[in-house]
Amino acid sequence: MKYNFDKVIDRRGTDSVKYDILQPLFGSDDIIPMWVADMDFEVPEFVREAVVGRAEHPVYGYTVRPPRFFETISAWLERRHGWKVKPDKIDFSPGVVPALVLSVLGYTNPGDKILVQSPVYFPFFNAITNHGRVLVNNQLVDQNGVYSIDFSDLEEKFSSGVKLMMFCHPHNPVGRAWTKQELEMLATLAIKYNVLVLSDEIHSDLLLFGNRHIPLASLGKEIASRTITCIAPSKTFNLAGLHTSAVVIEDPKLKKVYEKILEDIHVGGGNIFGFTALEAAYREGDEWLGQLLEYLEGNYDFLKKYLSEILPGITVSPLEATYLAWINFGILGLDDKELMKFMVKEARIGFVDGPRFGEGGTQYMRMNIGTPRAVLKSALDQLADATRDKFGEKF
Ligand SMILES: Cc1ncc(COP(=O)(O)O)c(C=O)c1O
Repeated sequence: MKYNFDKVIDRRGTDSVKYDILQPLFGSDDIIPMWVADMDFEVPEFVREAVVGRAEHPVYGYTVRPPRFFETISAWLERRHGWKVKPDKIDFSPGVVPALVLSVLGYTNPGDKILVQSPVYFPFFNAITNHGRVLVNNQLVDQNGVYSIDFSDLEEKFSSGVKLMMFCHPHNPVGRAWTKQELEMLATLAIKYNVLVLSDEIHSDLLLFGNRHIPLASLGKEIASRTITCIAPSKTFNLAGLHTSAVVIEDPKLKKVYEKILEDIHVGGGNIFGFTALEAAYREGDEWLGQLLEYLEGNYDFLKKYLSEILPGITVSPLEATYLAWINFGILGLDDKELMKFMVKEARIGFVDGPRFGEGGTQYMRMNIGTPRAVLKSALDQLADATRDKFGEKF
């Protein structure tokens, strides 16, 4: 491998959310943090060089997004996903969660129903309920850790007057990359019941094990005209701190609504380093990304093998995309509170506990495996030691 994903980088003391708030969050600094979704790998050199190059210009004034910003995103979407999007269908967003909130504000009114599919990335819930909208849940079906959509429940919920659906594609935390057939079924229902779809595709560049990302809006004109797609280089290239992402909105009226809300709230400015990083990443990032995906597959294989050999009965869901593993600890027989306490106090690992992802999350933990294999192994060794100490006879 040309790039070194084994390199362990000390991130403490860098004002990192992942490393520098362990004490207030978990009550201890002696924790291997595997919670928030950023990776411990260094940003590729060509991105750092571009950012440093821009930083060397001594003035950091207000900035505009030149046409090449949108052209670069358009070229990336076509190259990576075969999705042809004209640059004028793309708009800026200072993050994907901000795009979700802006969409809630722009496309719905207080009291409107918005649908999610739990267990799901928890900021979806706040984006809905913090703004007086009504949360409707189409819970995913969990068959021994393999997840699917309950389409008859989805249809029932849609028919009750859902205005907007927040779709997580690929899905965080259950690791699914939705298939063409699933997407087509969803699109058919969204069209039939006149539902707008906010498709959060932030993890779409991180498909593993031969899976392919199919953008929901690429299925056809009808679904494209009711879809707002959120994308970003932040998960892919580890740039979350730069707050630079984008939305694709094919329908001109919907796009105007988005532009207006972005302007009204005055968050459309963006930052020069984010633009520079996005352009470098999307222009030069293919080879680095290929190697990252290979490394993540290796990490998942390592995790799965470790669990089955050393901690049998603790199981991980299949990982079709991204670096967030969804692990079922039901065999330990602890309730969710005890399980979290065990992880923090005894295993000394900072996971995200399943119930935070809503209904269906109980007994699960989400583990971020976007880290050097040695760190992953240390965390698993700590878990194995703590598990043997507490449940000796079972393991
Ligand atoms: C599905 C999903 N959407 C959005 C985000 C965060 O996006 P941003 O940092 O751009 O707001 C994450 C981060 O984990 C995520 O998993």
